[in-house]
Amino acid sequence: MAKKRIGILTAGGDAPGLNAAIRGFGKAAIGKYGWTLLGFRDGMRGLAENRYVELDRSILSGILTTGGTMLGTSRDKVHRMMVDGERRDMIPTIVENYEEAKLDALVCLGGGGTAKNAHRLAEAGLNVVHLPKTIDNDILHTDSSFGFSTALEIATEAVDRLHSTAHSHHRIIIVELMGHRAGWLALGAGIAGGADVILIPEIPYHVESVIDMIKRRQARGSTFSVVAVAEGAMPIEEAQQLEYARSLVKDASSPEAKAIAKKSVKEIENAHRGTSLALAEKLEAGTGLEARVTILGHVQRGGTPNGADRLLATRLGVAGADAIHDGHFHVTVADRGEGTELVDLDETAGKVKYVPTDHEWIRAARDVGTAMGD
Ligand code: F6P
Repeated sequence: MAKKRIGILTAGGDAPGLNAAIRGFGKAAIGKYGWTLLGFRDGMRGLAENRYVELDRSILSGILTTGGTMLGTSRDKVHRMMVDGERRDMIPTIVENYEEAKLDALVCLGGGGTAKNAHRLAEAGLNVVHLPKTIDNDILHTDSSFGFSTALEIATEAVDRLHSTAHSHHRIIIVELMGHRAGWLALGAGIAGGADVILIPEIPYHVESVIDMIKRRQARGSTFSVVAVAEGAMPIEEAQQLEYARSLVKDASSPEAKAIAKKSVKEIENAHRGTSLALAEKLEAGTGLEARVTILGHVQRGGTPNGADRLLATRLGVAGADAIHDGHFHVTVADRGEGTELVDLDETAGKVKYVPTDHEWIRAARDVGTAMGD
C-alpha cells in the first residue's frame, strides 16, 4: 500500500498543548504508521499559500513541553480570506494545493472557528480530522479541550494572588478572564481561587446584586472582595438587548434584513468586550470601596502546558492518527468519559458549549457562598 501523506496545521488562538498534540500525532503518524507528514505554516493561510515543511522525527523531538505552536497560526477563514486587500474564497486554491501535495488527509488543530473551516474544507471534498484545542473549553461534545487545564491553573493563581492585595487595601479587585462567549475559565478559576463573586456570560448579572453581596461582606467585617469576571459576561440590560438582536437575525425575512441584524449583533458583542472598567466604577459608587481591575489577557494562553494538557494533547494526537488509519474523516476527535470518541464535524462546527446554568460547578459555587450576580 502506498505510504500516506498527511498535512497538519494549527489555527485560531494558540493554546498550551498545541506542540504536544503535533508531536503526539506526528510520532504515531511517522513511527506507528510510516506516513509522511507535512506541517502547514500559519493555519489556513499557509494552506492557501502552499507554505509547508516536512516534519520528521528530529523536528518533533523536544516540543512536548513548549508553549505556542511551532507551526504558527492565524485566524483566517478559508471562504473569506484577505488577499491583496480584498476578501476571497480560497477553498478552490486550498483544494488544488491539497491535491498537488498528494495529501490523503488534513489534520486541523484548533477551536470552534477551526472546526468551521475544517467543515467547509470537508464539504469541498478534503479528508479532514479536527483536534479540539482551546483555553475556552467551549467545544460541544468534548469534555475538555487541551489548553484549558493550563489556563485554569494560571487564572486560578491570579485570583489567588489578588486576595492578599485586595485584603490589605480593603479594595474590590475585579479580575477579567478569557473564555470568549463561555464562562468555563472564569467559573473554574473563580471557584478554585475562592472568588467572592463570579460573573459569566451564561448568567447575565444585576449590578445591584453584586453591590449587595459586597455590602453584606462589609457588614460581616470583610472589607474586600474579589470578583472574577468572564470577558463575555454581561449586565442583564445588555444581555436582553443582545437577545433581541439575535431574535431579529433568526426572524429576518430577507438576506438583507439578516445581514443588518447580524451587524447589530456583532456591534453589541464588540461593545461588551472589556466591560470590567465600567463595572468597577459602578461598584465603587455603590459600595464606597475603592476598586481595581486586572485584565489577565494572553498570559492565560502563554507558556508551557501543564501535565494534564500534555497528556490530553498526546492522547488526542494519537487518536487522530488512528482515526485516519481506520478511514474516519469529517470528525472531531473528542475527549469523552474515559477515552476519545469521533464526533461528526456537523455536530461541533459552529456550535458553542456554554456552561449549563444548572451545572454542578455553578451549584458548587453557590453552595460555598459565591455570588453569581443574579
Ligand atoms: O479563543 C481563545 C481566546 O483566548 C479567547 O478566550 C479570547 O476571547 C480570544 O482568544 C482572544 O483572541 P486574540 O488572541 O485574537 O486577541
